Amino acid sequence: MAGADPSDGQWNHSASLFGVTGPRTRTQVAIIGAGPAGLTLGHLLHRSGIDSVILERRDRAYVERRQRAGVLEHGTVDLFRSTGVGDRMDREGLVHHGIHLQFEGERHRIPLTELAGGRSITVYGQHEVVKDLIAARLAAGREICFEADEVSLHDVDSERPCVRYRSEGSAREIECDIIAGCDGSHGVSRAAIPQDAYRVFERTYPFAWLGILAAVPPSLDELIYAHHDRGFALHSMRTPTITRLYVQCAPDDPLDAWPDERVWTELRARLETADGWTLEAGPVLEKGITTMRSAVMEPMQWGRLFVAGDAAHVVPPTGAKGMNLAVSDVRALGAAIAEWYRTGDRAALDVYSRTCLRRVWRAEHFSWWMTSMLHRVPDADAFHHKLQLAQLRYTVESRLAAASLAENYVGYEHA
Ligand code: APR
Ligand code: PHB
Repeated sequence: MAGADPSDGQWNHSASLFGVTGPRTRTQVAIIGAGPAGLTLGHLLHRSGIDSVILERRDRAYVERRQRAGVLEHGTVDLFRSTGVGDRMDREGLVHHGIHLQFEGERHRIPLTELAGGRSITVYGQHEVVKDLIAARLAAGREICFEADEVSLHDVDSERPCVRYRSEGSAREIECDIIAGCDGSHGVSRAAIPQDAYRVFERTYPFAWLGILAAVPPSLDELIYAHHDRGFALHSMRTPTITRLYVQCAPDDPLDAWPDERVWTELRARLETADGWTLEAGPVLEKGITTMRSAVMEPMQWGRLFVAGDAAHVVPPTGAKGMNLAVSDVRALGAAIAEWYRTGDRAALDVYSRTCLRRVWRAEHFSWWMTSMLHRVPDADAFHHKLQLAQLRYTVESRLAAASLAENYVGYEHA
């Protein structure tokens, strides 16, 4: 990738070439997707004085309301705070110093902060992060186009890649130096890479999570991950008055197989302890099913397309790594792009994929391990069940095993 072209000027003219009927513009980095990956990248590039355009398929209200995970690792919090988008997170986020593992009706606290060198996690919904980043984008005066349809990538292996899309009834084109594919697990960016130029490693799981958001204060001020004969359950939260809860279900369960009453019955059965602790119920505000998959593409780059976040890899939600990995990818990508524009040196861009994949595979392993230890596996034998319990007991009893969980949970930083 020779010859950095830091030209920042916008050029507009109409062209009928390729059916482009609207404006053709130029930017330095075209970003596909306004999730945590795309928005954080746009923010970091802006801070380095680099222009970008973000193209998002959905409307603003949709992305600002979409319920996703809600646990920020220590390093994610530091990044938002140190780059000026952490004020509301600092005011409203809930800092947690421990989580609970529960099995055989007993609850065991893992003191994360004590075991992981003083680091903590912050509970703050992903959609709140998205809101803060969109507000920062608009305040910076950088472009973000919602409801961008039919996004397609072209000339990705040339020095002048471009993105075509439809917006407000016209076909448009953006020419750029670099494209960042931040369009999540159902995006289009990856399709621009020849199939023999990358490999996907993946695993699906024979279960899913049914999640609810309930208007009731959390029944405990920390997260509970519960192993139970009836299946996994998780107690989490969004605010001091909103609880987030999940129960393991079958991947092909229809939502209407889970009326509120059944959800609460299963949650109670799986989360209650032998010592009489009870779960508070309340009105269900939202309900949805999340399927579970592990997948990684290698490499995460082709030509001038750099793929980041869920577009490049997914993890099952056990362990809450998805958003944190997305942020960590674009932290590396943003720094590599800035170095290239500043010095013309493409070394960091060339190792982008290698740099990210070390952390990605650590998180893949951790999420797979937590998932395997905590879920009821259909058709698994009694031996498998006993192994899960042995692993859980070891994790809560051994300080070293608990410290390993804690180190990964708050976010493992490679040397
Ligand atoms: N054109 C434009 N935008 C698109 C397209 C497309 N063809 N396809 C998808 N998008 C948008 C989606 O609407 C979404 O807003 O890309 C964005 C991708 O955002 P996320 O799915 O949130 O992915 P990412 O930013 O990588 O963040 C990962 O999201 O799914 C969770 O658990 C995951 O927490 C993790 C986080
Ligand atoms: C959540 O609050 O949505 C959440 C918390 C922890 C997880 C997954 C999801 O592991």
